[in-house]
Amino acid sequence: MTQPGEIMDDPLWYKDVIVYQLHVKTFFDSNGDGYGDFAGLIEKLDYIEQLGVNCIWILPFYPSPLRDDGYDIADYVSINPLYGTMQDAKNFIKEAHRRNIRVITELVINHTSDQHEWFKRAKAAPPDSNERNYYVWSDTDTKFDDARIIFIDTEASNWTWDSTAKAYYWHRFFSHQPDLNFDNPEVTNAVLDVMRFWLDIGVDGFRLDAIPYLIEREGTNCENLPETHAILKQFRAALDKDYKNKLFLAEANQWPADVIQYFGSGTDECHMAYHFPLMPRIFMALHQQTRTPIVEIMRQTPDIPESCQWAIFLRNHDELTLEMVTDEERDYMYAAYAEHPIMRCNVGIRRRLAPLLENSRPRVELANSLLFSMPGTPIVYYGDEIGMGDNVYLGDRNGVRTPMQWNGDRNGGFSRASFAQLYSPPLMDPVSGYQVINVEAQQLDKSSLLHWMRRIIRLRKQYKVFGRGTIEFIEPANRKVLAYIRRYENETVLCLANLSYSPQSADLHLEKYAGKTPVEMFGMEAFHEITEQPYVVTFAPYGFYWLLLEK
Ligand code: GLC
Repeated sequence: MTQPGEIMDDPLWYKDVIVYQLHVKTFFDSNGDGYGDFAGLIEKLDYIEQLGVNCIWILPFYPSPLRDDGYDIADYVSINPLYGTMQDAKNFIKEAHRRNIRVITELVINHTSDQHEWFKRAKAAPPDSNERNYYVWSDTDTKFDDARIIFIDTEASNWTWDSTAKAYYWHRFFSHQPDLNFDNPEVTNAVLDVMRFWLDIGVDGFRLDAIPYLIEREGTNCENLPETHAILKQFRAALDKDYKNKLFLAEANQWPADVIQYFGSGTDECHMAYHFPLMPRIFMALHQQTRTPIVEIMRQTPDIPESCQWAIFLRNHDELTLEMVTDEERDYMYAAYAEHPIMRCNVGIRRRLAPLLENSRPRVELANSLLFSMPGTPIVYYGDEIGMGDNVYLGDRNGVRTPMQWNGDRNGGFSRASFAQLYSPPLMDPVSGYQVINVEAQQLDKSSLLHWMRRIIRLRKQYKVFGRGTIEFIEPANRKVLAYIRRYENETVLCLANLSYSPQSADLHLEKYAGKTPVEMFGMEAFHEITEQPYVVTFAPYGFYWLLLEK
C-alpha cells in the first residue's frame, strides 16, 4: 500500500504517464510581482490534476540572467528568487506527489551561464589549472570546425574570445553559455552532486538538456560521440546506485538511429528520449493530406529496449524544430506553416499548436489524437489544452512563452501586477487573446477544447496499450487515411485518422480480426462486425476513431 504523499512504486511509471510541460514563470503569479512562482503553481495544482496529466515537467527555475529563459544557469542548487524559495519548491513537489503527480526537472549540464561561479573562477585561473579546465578553451577559434552552429540567428561561431582568460571558450548555444568540459572528471563529479541534490529533494527524474554535445573531438561533428555516451553511463550508474524509480529523458534532437544510442543497452543510459523526427511529420501529413511522412519515419524507427520509451510531443517551449527533415521538407514546412519570415526562428518555426493549425478545432483534435495514440509518452505544452495562441513579435522563442490565460480579467488572471511589470505581455489579440481563450470560459463551456482534452486524457489512461503497446500499420488504398493497430497483452486498439479536410472513406483489410466487433472508445458504441470482406469506414473531415478490438 502506498501512503498519502508517496507515489506508486513502479519502475516503469514513465510508460503510462501523461506529461504536462510548464515554466513556473508563465503559470500563475501569487505575489503580484509580474512573474509566476512556485506558490502560484501550487494554487493551480487542482487545475493540473483535473486535466488528468500525472507528471509535470518544469523548465529551469534556477538563478539565471534569463538570457536563454533560464537555460543559462548561474547556480544549480538554488531557486531564482523571482519564483520563490527552496521551501516553496519543496512544497510544490510534496503537493504534486500528494496528488500522485510526478515532477521532472532539468539537468542542463552541457553549459552554464557565463555568470556561474565556475566560469568566473575559470576565467581568472591560470591556463591549464583545474579551475580553468572546467570549460573548453583554445588559443584559436578554428578547432572542432566540423561542428554545426545551432543558434544560427544569433551566433556566427562556436568560439568566443574572453579578454580576462585571453583565450577562446567553446559554446554550442549562445555565446553567454560556455560549455562545460566533460574531459575533466571533476566536472562530472560536480554535476553528479547537482543531480543528487535534486534527487534528495524528491524530483522523479530529469530531462537531460542538449545531451549530444557533452564531448568534443577534432575531425568529428562533436555530436553523439562514444565518449559522451560513456559519461551518460556514469550518470546512470550513479542514479541507479542510490535511487529507485527515477527517470532520465534525453533531449537529443537527432535521427532515430542516433537517438536510440541514448537508450544504451536499455538499463545503462536513458529511460526515455524524444522522438524529434516524428513531430514535424505529423504537421507535414496534415498539410499534404497523406499518411506517408508518418508511416515512413515510424518504419525507420528501430525497436527500442523493453524498458525504454519514446517521448512524443506536438509543440514545446522552443521553435518547432526542422533539423530532422530533409532540405526539401524544410522548405515545404516553411511555406506551409511559416509564410511570414518573422514566424521563423533558427532552423524552425516559433508558433504554437492552435495557430499552426489555423485554430481549427477538428485539426487540433486530430493532431492530439495522434499524440495520444502513437507509441510513446505524450507531452502536452501548457496552454495548448485551451488552444492558446502566440505572439511572433516578442523575439527569440518568447512568443510561445506568454502568460497562461486563466480568465478574462486584467492580465488574463495571471497576475495582479501592473501590465508594465509583467515578464511578458499576455495575448490580447481578437483571435487568441485572454478575453477569448481562457480556462474559466472553457471550464464553463462543456463543449470546449479543455473539456475535450480532459476526456481524451481520461480515456487514454484507462488502457495501457497506448503507452506500452506495439504498432503495426495497415495501408488502405486511400493514402489520406492513417491506420494502425496498437497491441499490448490482451488489449488491441485500431486507430484511424482522416488527414484530409474533406470527408473520406477507406477499405481496411482486417481479415485477421474477422468475427470481432469494434467498439468506438469515446462513446463505447459497437461498430459493425469485421468479416472476411474489406471493412469500410467513412470519415468526417479530420475525423478519427479509436476502435477497441479486444480487451
Ligand atoms: C535546449 C532547450 C532550449 C535552450 C537550449 C540551450 O535545446 O530546449 O530552450 O535554448 O537547450 O540551453
